[in-house]
Amino acid sequence: MLTNGLRARYDSATVELDPPFALVDLEAFRSNAQELLRRANGRPIRVASKSVRCRELLGQVLALPGFAGVMAYSLAEALWQVETGLTDDVLVGYPTADRGALRALAKDDAARAAVTIMVDDVAQLDFVSDALGAGHPEIRVCIELDASWRPLARFRQDWLHVGVRRSPVHTPLEAAALAREVLRRPGFSLVGVMAYEAQIAGLGDAPRGRPVRATAVRMMQRRSFAELAERRAAAVAAIRALAPLEFVNGGGTGSLERTSTEEAVTELAAGSGLLAPTLFDTYQAFRLRPAALFALPVVRRPAEGVATVFGGGYLASGPVGSDRLPTPYLPQGLRLTGAEAAGEVQTPLLGAVADELAVGDRVWFRHAKAGELAERFAQFHLLDSGGLTTVPTYRGEQRCFG
Ligand SMILES: Cc1ncc(COP(=O)(O)O)c(C=O)c1O
Repeated sequence: MLTNGLRARYDSATVELDPPFALVDLEAFRSNAQELLRRANGRPIRVASKSVRCRELLGQVLALPGFAGVMAYSLAEALWQVETGLTDDVLVGYPTADRGALRALAKDDAARAAVTIMVDDVAQLDFVSDALGAGHPEIRVCIELDASWRPLARFRQDWLHVGVRRSPVHTPLEAAALAREVLRRPGFSLVGVMAYEAQIAGLGDAPRGRPVRATAVRMMQRRSFAELAERRAAAVAAIRALAPLEFVNGGGTGSLERTSTEEAVTELAAGSGLLAPTLFDTYQAFRLRPAALFALPVVRRPAEGVATVFGGGYLASGPVGSDRLPTPYLPQGLRLTGAEAAGEVQTPLLGAVADELAVGDRVWFRHAKAGELAERFAQFHLLDSGGLTTVPTYRGEQRCFG
């Protein structure tokens, strides 16, 4: 649908609502889910709940064939997901230092069967054992392998590091050593391996108006992928020689077609691609439909060519830059100002189309990231062919996991 048609559809479906509010276009959401599955080439996708943060939407995704299990971002969140019946298969994608949640996990047999925690260091195993005391029941564990690229590694130089700072476990030898340590300790069972290649999955290779950067990113990603595929296969083989694994997880929204070609990887992870925030507009391999929007009301017209909306300062996490700002989406032709950008209580918008906007009209925005929108709004209004339904976000359920 052309953007004018979309705007009319969104405006008329929500005419009874007073902005600010958040809308999820379920047609776009489902079409994005199918696009993720297509790119996954038959590998199951574990849905990254940090990038959705709404139980209803997570449930809808899990009901689609091809999606299986949740990748949670905190242990407390994972326990809540199991307790509320969302899933019986949660991988916590990040290590935990939450003693209370660990105790709750240890006490609950159903949760212990469903939840897998992440480790990349014996310090985390010690932490769990200290929190739970000697003789604690068996906790399912996944080892995280570092997926960053060290281009100078063959010259024994580790200082050049491309990727995020996650696991210290980089080589197959290091992975096997940690696996041995997990297996040696009572109270832990080793069930999985995960390696998340953020420099490929989370970095757009077609940044607008930056052809030199695009070429550099593509070259880096090609080489990093080749290096990782080999190292990941070797690390997984080394661990499998010590223990049977239930799963090997890899990838993210931006890397599905690549990661799914690796035999060592049994499942993928993705979340952002469902809602398609602006940071995922800059990939060559796929186009997604914006599915998560928020509407802000025009409250002032300070001058010709300027319309000021209420609120709007919903910045995304990560390195400070204009790509972290929300983007005015509909009507087309509006832009943020350099002086105020997206403000705490107001956001002025520039563009000739501003003159067509009156006080009370709404402007539709897109967030730069997927899940963080749910931290701003207590509800998502879900738009389907049958009309609107309203569901709580994590925030709406008074759940805040950090
Ligand atoms: C461990 C892990 N896997 C996968 C992903 C991909 O998530 P998304 O598809 O939302 O980018 C992330 C995102 O940060 C992650 O941390």
